[in-house]
Amino acid sequence: MMKFGIVFCLVLVCLQLQAQQYILYSPNGNLKCSLQIDNAGALSYTLQSGNTELIKNSQLGFNLKNAKPLKSDFVFVFTDTSVTDETWNTVWGESKTIRNNYHRRILTVQQKTTGIILQIECKIFNDGLGFRYLFPQQDNLKYFIISDELTEFHVNGNHNAFWLPGDFDTNEYAYTQSRLSDVHAIESAQKYPEIATRNPIGDNIVQTPLLLKSDDGWYMSIHEAALVNYAAMELIVDKQNFILTTTLAPDALGNLCYLSAPCSTPWRTIIVSKKATDILASRIILNLNAPCVIENTTWIKPMKFIGIWWGMHVDKYTWNYSNSKNINIETTDWTSLKPNGKHGATTENAMEYIDFAASNGFDGVLIEGWNVGWEDWFGNWKENVFDFVTPYPDFDVDAVQAYAEKRHVQIIMHHETSGSVTNYERRLPAAIDFMKAHNYHAVKTGYVGKIIPRGEYHDGQWMVNHYIYVAEMFAKNEIMLDAHEPVRPTGLSRTYPNWLACEAARGNEFNAWSKGNPPEHETILPFTRLLGGPMDYTPGIFQIKMDYYDAKKTTQVHTTLAKQLALYVTMYSPFQMAADLPENYRAHPDAFQFIKDVPVDWDETKYISAEPGDYIAIARKEKNGNNWYLGAITDENARTLNLSLDFLDSGKDYIITIYCDGETADWKNNPMDYRIEKYRVNSKTILSQTLAPGGGAAMEITLAKSDELQGLKLYKNKGK
Ligand code: NOJ
Ligand code: CA
Repeated sequence: MMKFGIVFCLVLVCLQLQAQQYILYSPNGNLKCSLQIDNAGALSYTLQSGNTELIKNSQLGFNLKNAKPLKSDFVFVFTDTSVTDETWNTVWGESKTIRNNYHRRILTVQQKTTGIILQIECKIFNDGLGFRYLFPQQDNLKYFIISDELTEFHVNGNHNAFWLPGDFDTNEYAYTQSRLSDVHAIESAQKYPEIATRNPIGDNIVQTPLLLKSDDGWYMSIHEAALVNYAAMELIVDKQNFILTTTLAPDALGNLCYLSAPCSTPWRTIIVSKKATDILASRIILNLNAPCVIENTTWIKPMKFIGIWWGMHVDKYTWNYSNSKNINIETTDWTSLKPNGKHGATTENAMEYIDFAASNGFDGVLIEGWNVGWEDWFGNWKENVFDFVTPYPDFDVDAVQAYAEKRHVQIIMHHETSGSVTNYERRLPAAIDFMKAHNYHAVKTGYVGKIIPRGEYHDGQWMVNHYIYVAEMFAKNEIMLDAHEPVRPTGLSRTYPNWLACEAARGNEFNAWSKGNPPEHETILPFTRLLGGPMDYTPGIFQIKMDYYDAKKTTQVHTTLAKQLALYVTMYSPFQMAADLPENYRAHPDAFQFIKDVPVDWDETKYISAEPGDYIAIARKEKNGNNWYLGAITDENARTLNLSLDFLDSGKDYIITIYCDGETADWKNNPMDYRIEKYRVNSKTILSQTLAPGGGAAMEITLAKSDELQGLKLYKNKGK
């Protein structure tokens, strides 16, 4: 419940300097945000914990196109504060409920020369700060164009950073760890020629979410929340002074954002803690997004699924039906083309996958390459690649759907837009009619390639609005969404919970056909990309080395098999794929059991221990049940983690099934060595779990019935 009123925040007017400071404390008093108007009327802010200035004096403001900059000459008009402490229910998520507890201030200022009114809205939580700009309705400002956002984050040292090269078209890089002074974004971007559409924008520009760690042990994540009708933020790094300054994706004309008052920017967010696990547990980004706008959410259901998909990434199948290059989406007679014999999305394969899904308890089957156009989809920057409604001649949509319904499995639609977004928007109504006619309730979209309208970027304002438009259109038609290659998420799944997941980072698929993802990758993603929302990472690859498919292949997944299982817990998503081929699951039925059992929706989550780039251990309690699941993963180093099970109900007996690395497991030399152990455990158990290099452990902890305990050893805590 929102309680308005003046709270205990101080207003200090420092008359000597003629500068004014407006201070706001976090609910527990540990964090302090100060907004300032200096004697030149410039706006700035700081963020402090005790005597530590986490964010030093950092400017706020804008340059506007063909207008006076909105960065100085401001005078105080009004300020207002309030306190909120509420709890809201998630539609799905890492927990059933989320507490939203913050102190808020709105500072209203006016620029003397132009009369323009600007507001800064700050919300300070126990674990960080969110602030945004508001442009209220007024006579002096109506339509305007942002030509620069000047917001700074002046951090207090040459921190260690986990960064991706700044790029308005892709977030599919692997992370680099370096001091801020050693950011070389262009050099890093050049190491990833396998990324379909790369556009690094400057040697000292990095993306958000940016994770920083200071030498005195502070973790700090800089990102944004509720990116709506605005371009995505990236950060220019001043390598001497450690000032990070906002830069925004431009449009085809070089303009950044077209706004009309009243309006607001997205929230700029700074999550801070001395405990790494607090960064993972932070809900600031979700809390800063608007509540759910979908009235009836009963049709929105987290899903576990398989797909005709990995087969294409390992070259067993193709998306295209023929190898003809002479095709045209409007005129080609598809039945006249010679099939290439490797097409994956055939009626027969689809039925086999449906059977596999049904007999193993999966909710859905994703089928890529079902629709015409793939012969000529990539790299031509052409407008009409796909129509999203015409199946290839060997894919009988009606028969597949009838079979899926008979076996109680949902087919997941696939819309690869090829970046031709104008084409997609034109055809979307027909595509939705098609989905409704065939009873499809989930779709995976994709944006591989350069965007059309030409000159737009994946992260620009126009595209940001497009992704939301698509999520809204699908919401109206009771369709759930998973978007690949969109702008990275900013918590909008709170507002549109039908938007289950995004890729928007370097997924597991890079392991199939490129130099892949380094073993530390999955220990960084939850500290960065996942702070904005769930990722469709596609875990569960059992056949780790690709020479299995073709002796000439040298690529491989950079984890052990056991770590692939642990990812179902450490990489939260309500849309979770069992990504490997059915044949590879059939070869390891005992390990596959974990994928069959692990839920995709949770009542509660405990972040047990973590260090970005090194390891993560998380335990989650299944939705509406008593069972817990625990995932622990490591980077390229072997390590032993002590994992307390003190989250279990005390006095009760549980059975733990541990799927872990075998004695000689190693992501490179022996990745498929795993073993499965069973013990009796309770809330006093402390597991001492060894993880192999690039390894992990996945655990299922079920409440024991008395007859199940017979003959089962009690797990002995180390030293006892
Ligand atoms: C890239 C996506 O990330 C991948 O999952 C998909 O299979 C291909 N595009 C084809 O759309
Ligand atoms: Ca991708």
